[in-house]
Amino acid sequence: MTRMTISSIAKNLEAYDGKTVSLCGWIHQKRSSGKIKFMMLRDGSGITQGVLVKGECEETSFEEFEKLTQESSIKVTGKIRKDARSKVGFELTVQKIEVVQIAQEYPISNKEHGVEFLMEHRHLWIRSQRQWAALRVRSEIFFAIQQFFRERGFIRFDPPILTPTSCEGTSTLFSTPYFDEKAFLTQSGQLYGETGAFAFGNIYTFGPTFRAEKSKTRKHLTEFWMVEPEMAFATLTDVMDLGEAFVCHIIKHCLEHCQPELALLERNQKELESIVSPFPRISYDEALKILEKRGHSIPWGEDFGAPHETALGEEFGKPVFIHHFPSKIKAFYFKHADAPDGEGVDHDGKYALGADLIAPFGYGEIIGGGQREDQVDVLTRRITEHGLNLKDYEWYLDLRRFGSVPHGGFGLGVERTVAWVTGVEHVRETIPFPRMLNHLKP
Ligand code: 4AD
Ligand code: MG
Repeated sequence: MTRMTISSIAKNLEAYDGKTVSLCGWIHQKRSSGKIKFMMLRDGSGITQGVLVKGECEETSFEEFEKLTQESSIKVTGKIRKDARSKVGFELTVQKIEVVQIAQEYPISNKEHGVEFLMEHRHLWIRSQRQWAALRVRSEIFFAIQQFFRERGFIRFDPPILTPTSCEGTSTLFSTPYFDEKAFLTQSGQLYGETGAFAFGNIYTFGPTFRAEKSKTRKHLTEFWMVEPEMAFATLTDVMDLGEAFVCHIIKHCLEHCQPELALLERNQKELESIVSPFPRISYDEALKILEKRGHSIPWGEDFGAPHETALGEEFGKPVFIHHFPSKIKAFYFKHADAPDGEGVDHDGKYALGADLIAPFGYGEIIGGGQREDQVDVLTRRITEHGLNLKDYEWYLDLRRFGSVPHGGFGLGVERTVAWVTGVEHVRETIPFPRMLNHLKP
């Protein structure tokens, strides 16, 4: 039988009001003032106040309360009382407490702790309210992702984690011995996703991906989760259309299902409500003009940095697609075009048929994707030009030999999306155990 929880009571408060229930949980905080004692009980699903009144509470429980330390585990029996001041809508008039364990002195208290300290105690930090809320939103976003693709007939297609090839350039590869060979942790499931699109039409890959990122920023992890849809018979416009519908679906789902968490995180929900279709779509060349106007000039052919992404986000106050990037700053697999609004040509155009979605408020690029090169001779040349070993990509080239079609897709970074939705500043708070430069433990 599943145990009764604070959230299940909150959802059905009318039925529970005045009833006696038992809850299992941990002491988050407590205080006493003579004849009346208070505790905040968290049970994983939520947090509520328990009140002990002398005379109404069992005598031994009333005395034993004094021994309870922060994070001690207990079973509490008491009466539910509706209370509008409570975040969950009710309080508990405690009748009895059964101690499961008296916790040792807990390292994380109410006072301010430094980030390094909290990161070292990540296994405990996740019990804190803000961390708890952000990780619950993450869980809902995982659900929303699967729901979106399932409703549209996309098949989940799982690519390998250990791979023989690079997808996003060789500078961020993690390698590991693989018997007599070398293997790499996957940077992206895309290349395998393309094989899936040719077998199933529309697919999505969803799993952890790895980048040996040396950068210490609020947006970079070395292990992050990426969801990557891939569609056969699709162009760059189809890719942007799907990305836009996808992001809107995630936001709408969170607004509907994460009210308590977003409230606890003090997320400005009006801002989230304003994220609706259509999103502006501008070319890289147009983006440069906007950046120049805002005092952030960069030469043609350079990639955007964090200040540029922030400025573009500010310009629109909404997610914005930047498409037709200079091909020289993009990966080998993009189809090229010869004009900033071109459709794609089979020679080496200056522009890549790619699109990035930049989230507002400095959360940066949350989607990267585009249309793939579909001609075997052009792709063969690109692989060599990018200094990659042709032999490792023969299977990938086979897709262009046997029934090649225009196709494309994108990758959405889950942690950056969770950060944006929750308003949490740094991606390290959006995954249970963040992996970053200098952070492998716990
Ligand atoms: O733009 P990226 O590198 O695109 C790809 O990997 C493509 N192969 C995807 C595809 O077309 N199927 O990465 C996609 C997204 C980024 O927009 C960003 O949200 C996230 O993955 N991302 C990271 N998130 C956290 N930490 C990092 N180091 C990240 N690198 C990329
Ligand atoms: Mg990118």
